[in-house]
Amino acid sequence: MPADLSPIDRAKYAASRRAVDFVEDGMRVGLGTGSTAAWMVRCLAERVKAEGLTLQCVPTSTRTAELGRELGLNIVTLEEAGWLDLTIDGADEFDPELSLVKGGGGALLQEKIVATASDRMIVITDAAKEVKTLGAFPLPVEVIPFGWQATRTLIAELIGGSDVDGHEITLRMNGDQPFRTDENNYILDLHLGRIGNPRELSLLLNQIAGVVENGLFLDICDTVIVGYGDGRVELH
Ligand code: 5RP
Repeated sequence: MPADLSPIDRAKYAASRRAVDFVEDGMRVGLGTGSTAAWMVRCLAERVKAEGLTLQCVPTSTRTAELGRELGLNIVTLEEAGWLDLTIDGADEFDPELSLVKGGGGALLQEKIVATASDRMIVITDAAKEVKTLGAFPLPVEVIPFGWQATRTLIAELIGGSDVDGHEITLRMNGDQPFRTDENNYILDLHLGRIGNPRELSLLLNQIAGVVENGLFLDICDTVIVGYGDGRVELH
């Protein structure tokens, strides 16, 4: 473990080190986005260097692609890889069913495409992301910029009438401009507090014309690896 890490980085590092043990020579691997996934990319690059592994790595964002290239990983597109053996990514929340909220870093669309094009998805987190019920973390929803206010109105009507306590919808900003995803879309963050029925909410959100995708990852993740500051890990 690198010296002088904060407890939270030690936890992220521990989960990342364990997750890259699942990577085998010749695999096609999806690389997630975020601060935990960045640790995983570093750990994977170390293994590739030390063991001479031949991998094809598909990043879920331009940020991850840049980091992977810098560290010497073989970065390819999903089109080039075709299908993936394994994706390793972070999450903003996970519940006992291994349902996730993702998209805090704004990469949920590519993350979901990559994860669902993989035989297996492993999530790496610290213990603070474990919840009984999803929704304390604002749910990111990627929307088309055209008519985004009308899309927000439709989402507001939807969540007002669904199984959630209290709501507020915010347009994610980058300084004084709307935040743009890698696909040049906007993100609306839904402050729901609690998501009583994630399946219903996910389906209904994705039926709105201006919604591209939402940050609920249901029946996608196989394993969650939780790292702790003392270097321990737990597999769920
Ligand atoms: C990015 C994501 C990230 O995986 C999620 O936000 C967790 O990030 P971090 O590891 O920095 O806490 O979904 O879109």
